[in-house]
This record gives sequence, structure tokens and C-alpha cells, in this order.
Amino acid sequence: MQGMTDSAATATEPLLAYPSGPSALPRSELLAELHRRVLLLVEAETDWLANLGNAAAEIFALVPGLNWAGWYLRRGDELVLGPFQGRPACVRIRVGHGVCGTAAAEQVSQVVHDVNEFPGHIACDVRSRSEIVVPVVVGGETVAVLDLDSAELGNFSDADRAGLEALVRDLIPHVDWQRATAG
Ligand code: SME
Repeated sequence: MQGMTDSAATATEPLLAYPSGPSALPRSELLAELHRRVLLLVEAETDWLANLGNAAAEIFALVPGLNWAGWYLRRGDELVLGPFQGRPACVRIRVGHGVCGTAAAEQVSQVVHDVNEFPGHIACDVRSRSEIVVPVVVGGETVAVLDLDSAELGNFSDADRAGLEALVRDLIPHVDWQRATAG
């Protein structure tokens, strides 16, 4: 395009700055910044895989203390591993099992202070000590869950739950859930 250099970015080409050390932002401001940046990444793109992938990457890059962040997609009575950041993880989780399956079945976010205290917790990564899972509900149906794990005990609060629920709510229109859950 005339007037643009080869390196000029469009809205779908992220060129975002990241803190090199621990974030100086208070957690509430960090969640607001995360929200703003994820929406910036997805608003001009319609590909569900690209958008869920970039959302997972942005969460993993910005939220302190994470060892895993990503999506499980609903396929029948199972959750199947979707786009994520972190070490390889369990691929299939039955709805109703583990923290993810509980959030999916009950359609209620799960904030787990200590994963060892959660009956049926599924340990994909032995380093994980705390976890938060937010269900993605569209038209009354669970279509996915967002899962964040931390190697720190009690890394997630009720404020994180509210912030991530708002993020999921605003991300929902930017993902073709029918395709994402088609298998
Ligand atoms: N801990 C989760 C399993 C998914 S991994 O943490 C990525 C659970 O209990 O459902």
C-alpha cells in the first residue's frame, strides 16, 4: 500500500511490548490491560483457531506466575485440548471430571487455591499448585473452558475470576464456536 513501509503493521499483526520482569501493574490494572490487548488481537480476525491461540498466548505472557494457559474445547461428553501455552497437557478430559470438567458441567468458574485439595484434580503438570477455570457458555451450552495453572499456591483470586469471565464474555463473539467444537 502506498505510504506504508514493508514493516508497517496492520491490526492483525501484533507488535506489542511486554514487561521483561515481574509486572509492575496492580492485578486489577493488569486484568484490564489483558482484556484490552486480547480484544485488540482478535477484533479484526475471524479465524477461531488464530483468535483462541493469540488469546492463550497473551494471557500466558501477561498474567504473573503461570505455567500453563489455554483452552479445552467441548466435543460431546469430552473436553479436548485446544490452543495453549505451556508444557504438553492431557488431551481428553471427561465433562464432570477434574477442575476443567467440573467448570464445564456446572457452568461455574472454579478458583482452586490448592489443587491437592480439589477432589479429582487432574495433574497434567506436576508443578501446578493452583488453578482457575472459566467455562465458555454459548446459548446455554458449554462450548469450551479457559484454564490457567500456576506453580504458586493461591495465585488466583475472585478478582481474577471476574476479570477472566469478562474477558471470555467479550471474546465469545470473535470465535466461531460451531467450527471450534466440530472436531
Ligand atoms: N488440572 C486440570 C487438567 C488440565 S491441565 O491443568 C492443563 C483439571 O483438573 O481439569
